[in-house]
Order: sequence, then structure tokens, then C-alpha cells
Amino acid sequence: MSNLDSAKKHPAANPDASRWHEPVLCDEVVALLRPAPGLLFLDGTLGGGGHSAALLQAGARVVGLDRDRESLDHAASRLAVFGDRFRVVPANFADAADVAEVRTAAPFDGALLDLGVSSHQLDTPERGFSFRHDGPLDMRMDPASGEPAALLVNTASEAELTGLFREYGEEPQARRVARAIVAERERLPFTRTGQLAALIEKVLGRRGRVHPATRVFQALRIAVNDELGSLRRALVTIPPLLRAGARFVVITFHSLEDRMVKAFFRTGSEQWLDRPEWPAPRPNPEWRFRDLTRKPLSAAGPETDRNPRARSAHLRAVEILPLRQEVAA
Ligand SMILES: C[S@@+](CC[C@H](N)C(=O)[O-])C[C@H]1O[C@@H](n2cnc3c(N)ncnc32)[C@H](O)[C@@H]1O
Repeated sequence: MSNLDSAKKHPAANPDASRWHEPVLCDEVVALLRPAPGLLFLDGTLGGGGHSAALLQAGARVVGLDRDRESLDHAASRLAVFGDRFRVVPANFADAADVAEVRTAAPFDGALLDLGVSSHQLDTPERGFSFRHDGPLDMRMDPASGEPAALLVNTASEAELTGLFREYGEEPQARRVARAIVAERERLPFTRTGQLAALIEKVLGRRGRVHPATRVFQALRIAVNDELGSLRRALVTIPPLLRAGARFVVITFHSLEDRMVKAFFRTGSEQWLDRPEWPAPRPNPEWRFRDLTRKPLSAAGPETDRNPRARSAHLRAVEILPLRQEVAA
């Protein structure tokens, strides 16, 4: 059996692949994107390459982006069997429209963003994302750019940390945690994830199954990687790279991202705008999508049993409408 046949027969069954990261809502992604030979897709969050593998197995071509070198290297070697149907490009998906390989390949027949971090990133202590494994307090998806989380934790004011934990972590005890961090770092600056997780556990105590540091770590990761800023830009810059009839699928893992995607897709899917003070509805200048998921899709029981990470996933998708002039014609 050739490598390609074996990859086709055992899609994500390669044990190394699922240990790295198990793709979430993969059947749903495939059903929405409808990959087929000759079609071209943009995977903005390559990660372990699980979703890309499914698109490639259906015969499509994929350009995959990631801002994490390790993910790119892993996906490139895992998916090498697909030859020139698969290209990897190191880039932030927010900059996709400025990437030469993306611009030349466009228009795409669909695009996917599967946000957040991969299991591999979380489970690699040296990357500093995890409160469960001690490591340097880093959290950068691209360790070659930006500043590590330790800098933020050691230099932001109590008010800044409180705002950050509240806004990005929705942490109800944001002020208490921020105050404790500011007091503790006078004694010993933070350098390790274990040190920060232990302090948070001391301040908040342990209740239930969720680790008390979960929300603060989420907040720091979002800030360090400017995750909401990247998503905001990508929502605007990716649709113009897609052809009419193409689909744009976004999987989010927390409410801040989901709210942003929901609002953006809703606004773009309304043909008419109406306000109580207007005598009649007006055409929506932003109208360019058909909403495919008025309610977000989430993972069913068997998937969440197998992959707890899937529990918080929300998938939303839109289809790109033909240009309005064509609609009117
Ligand atoms: C949840 S994982 C994707 C998993 C992937 N769909 C799979 O099936 O293996 C998210 C990936 O997106 C990457 N990522 C997150 N934000 C990014 C951004 N703004 N630009 C490029 N890559 C990003 C992360 O480095 C990580 O590898």
C-alpha cells in the first residue's frame, strides 16, 4: 500500500496525529465545506493538520497557515503524502490577504478557522500554556514574536490585570487575583506557570472540576497572542479571498470569540436593516453572506466523551453570496 493509500484508509487514525491534536467537529466541517477534487481551501489554523487531512483525503487542495513553527513542521511532515496538493505557510491568519502564496492561490472554495491552541501546545510544558504542567510563563503561539506572558504578569498594574482577567477571562474574582499577583511579584517575579497556578489556587481555593487558574490563564493567552484582534481582522480580510458560493467556517472555544463571530456573520447575512425611527427598511450595505448556522453547531456526546476539548466548541458558518450587482442582474 502506498503512503497515500494508507493515509486515505486511515485518515486521522495515525496514533501520532490524534495524540498531537484531535480535530473538533471534523465531520461537520467536511459536510459544510464539501471538499472534492479540484477545489481549494484555506486552513488558517493548521495545528496538527487534522481538518486539513480530511479535506485532502477528499481530493481537495489546501493552503495551511499557522503562526506556530512546530505545528507547521508537524503538519508538513504528516501531510507530505499529499504532495503539491498541500502547502504550508507560516503566517498569522489575520494577515492571510497579505501573504503572497495566499494571494496567488485565491480565490478559495472555502476557509476554516479552528481557534485557540492545540492539545500539543497545551501539553508541552516548555510552551508555557498550561497550569497543569510547570514550564516557563510564555504562552506565545509564535515564540519568535511578541512578549512572553511573564512580562505582562510582572509589569502590568493591578488595574490593568483586573481588567484583563475580567474581560478576557470572565473571572469573577479578577481584582483579588490581580492584587495577590502584584503583592507576590514584589517578593519574587513570576517566571513559571506552576508558580502562577499555585498562587491563584491559594487565592481562589479549589472547587469543582475546573482548575481555579483556568480563566486567568485563558485571559493571559488571549492578551499575549492578541487573539481577539487577530480574529477581528480575519473576519474582515478572509471573505474577500473566497469565491461566490464558498463557505467560511469558524470554530470558537469561548464566548468572547463566539459573540464576535455571531455578530459579524449576522450583520453580513441581513439583506435589510430596520430601525423604529425609519419609515421603511433599508438595504444593508454589509450584506454578503448566507448564514448556514443560525444556531451554532456543537459536538455530540460521543465526541465530547472522546475529546473533552470539544465540549466548549461552537461552529458557525456562512456562504459567500455573489456580488450584489450580480444578484440584481
Ligand atoms: C485548535 S488548533 C487547530 C487544530 C487543527 N484544526 C487540527 O485539526 O489539528 C489552533 C491552531 O491555530 C494556531 N493559531 C491560533 N491563532 C492563530 C493565528 N492568529 N494565526 C495563525 N495560526 C493561529 C495555533 O498555533 C494552533 O496550532
